[in-house]
Formats: sequence, C-alpha cells, structure tokens
Amino acid sequence: MTTRLRIRVAADLCCGHHRCMELAPDVYEVVGGFNPMDGCLVPAGAEESARYGADACPEGAITLDEEGEVE
Ligand code: F3S
Repeated sequence: MTTRLRIRVAADLCCGHHRCMELAPDVYEVVGGFNPMDGCLVPAGAEESARYGADACPEGAITLDEEGEVE
C-alpha cells in the first residue's frame, strides 16, 4: 500500500522557472513557460522525485495532496 500524491500547481504563482522539470523530469513538464501538471497524479514510485521538484520551485507554486492509500 502506498499513498498517491496529486499535483497542485498555483497558476498565479508559476512563472516558468523550470526548476521543477530540471530536477524531477520524471514527474513534471513545463510547456510555454508554465507547469501544466495541476490535477495529475504522481506516477507510482516517483513520490520522492515529486517532492524534490516541488521543493525546488522558488515561487512555492507546487503542492502535493495526499490522495489516500492504494494497493
Ligand atoms: Fe513553475 Fe516553479 Fe516549475 S515557477 S515552471 S512550478 S519551478
């Protein structure tokens, strides 16, 4: 059982620093200077990478919501 994480990107804070994608390319992408991953689930096994990339955002634009445990 693992806890799934859902990505939340604050549209009013993301301004295209790209650090999320550079440090966690297995989780995030940036398109047109914006991280479009709001609402996506973090792939199983990539939770640590997702947290690393979120913490690297200088605007604090990314948060990760715990979705509960799945098999
Ligand atoms: Fe946006 Fe932060 Fe990534 S500003 S592009 S979420 S590093």
